[in-house]
Amino acid sequence: MKIIFFLAVIGLCSAGLRDRASRKIGVALSHLHLGSSQYQYIAGTEFNSMTAEWQMKWDPIGNDPNTPNFAWAEELMSFAARHNQSVRGHTFIWHSAVPTWVQALENNAPALQAAISSFITSTATHFRGRCYEWDVVNEVIEGDGSYRNTIFYRTLGTTYIADAFRLARAADPYAKLFINDYNIEGVNAKSNALYNLVVSLLAQGVPIDGVGFQGHFIVGQLPTDFAANMQRFANLGLDVSITELDIRMNLPPTAANLQQQAVDYANAFRACYQVARCTGVTVWGVTDLYSWVPDFFPGQGAALLFDEQYATKPAYYSVESVLN
Ligand code: G3I
Repeated sequence: MKIIFFLAVIGLCSAGLRDRASRKIGVALSHLHLGSSQYQYIAGTEFNSMTAEWQMKWDPIGNDPNTPNFAWAEELMSFAARHNQSVRGHTFIWHSAVPTWVQALENNAPALQAAISSFITSTATHFRGRCYEWDVVNEVIEGDGSYRNTIFYRTLGTTYIADAFRLARAADPYAKLFINDYNIEGVNAKSNALYNLVVSLLAQGVPIDGVGFQGHFIVGQLPTDFAANMQRFANLGLDVSITELDIRMNLPPTAANLQQQAVDYANAFRACYQVARCTGVTVWGVTDLYSWVPDFFPGQGAALLFDEQYATKPAYYSVESVLN
């Protein structure tokens, strides 16, 4: 195993999923784990696209209103450049990862609008031309189809959504601009509301290019209409992308759940590849060891393609077979 690892490290056998993929196959990365050679090796040889798991959000960049911090993001951008990876920008406007000083602007529409304008313009300008897609707004719809009750909605109504796309386009005309959300993978009240919002934005001439389907699933519960649902958005003339795929299960993993997970991952990739406008699939992390899932859903995890010892799981091979 060590000799293979050594040869891989020096690049003599680095065939990975990216070598089989005709579309983007991405991974969410964190600068916190770049010190691990295994983390770096898998991230660099298996994936041709990178999303910063946190480092390109408002709080890490704009926690200090006077001094933007791009250092953590630039560590990840350098990694992507060294490994010939494209970058998905994630994300300008989201109700989480909002700096404390921005939260204090609630109910002050002019000030919040100015803060949004400054953050999007400066951040999109900083990364101009280096991101093939940006998640401009993230998770703006509730499960029942209403607008999500966030500081942005409470203070600005729905205008912040179109404004964010216009600001991003003005600062970076090269990036495809996406709206991103979870639990919209099947046809349901939430995805129907998102569909209607996108139709409305397009009718207003808002520069929106695509829809991101996060794909945070529970094993055995993928919607059977995933591809058809993405297709209806593509039929609006938009790109689609599976942006944060992970498929969690109760811990400890059982052989049956790992096998079902392999089926589910294969079906998620098939759903993307059945839609011409689907630009690719990003998995939300390298290894189960650093997945967000156990912290957020106690007792659940094992959601990714590599386990906590960086070993491939059945899902890795089912994805490989779909890509082949
Ligand atoms: O590393 C910093 C540390 O330096 C700092 O002192 C500390 C202060 O809170 O924060 C640490 O950063 C943490 C970061 O992950 C590390 O990567 C943040 O606390 C923590 O909130 C952040 O969590 C991320 C979360 O989004 C919130 O931004 C998760 O890693 C990330 O997986 C998760 O991803 C989201 C997508 O963006 C949107 N869709 C849902 C998905 C899962 O929640």
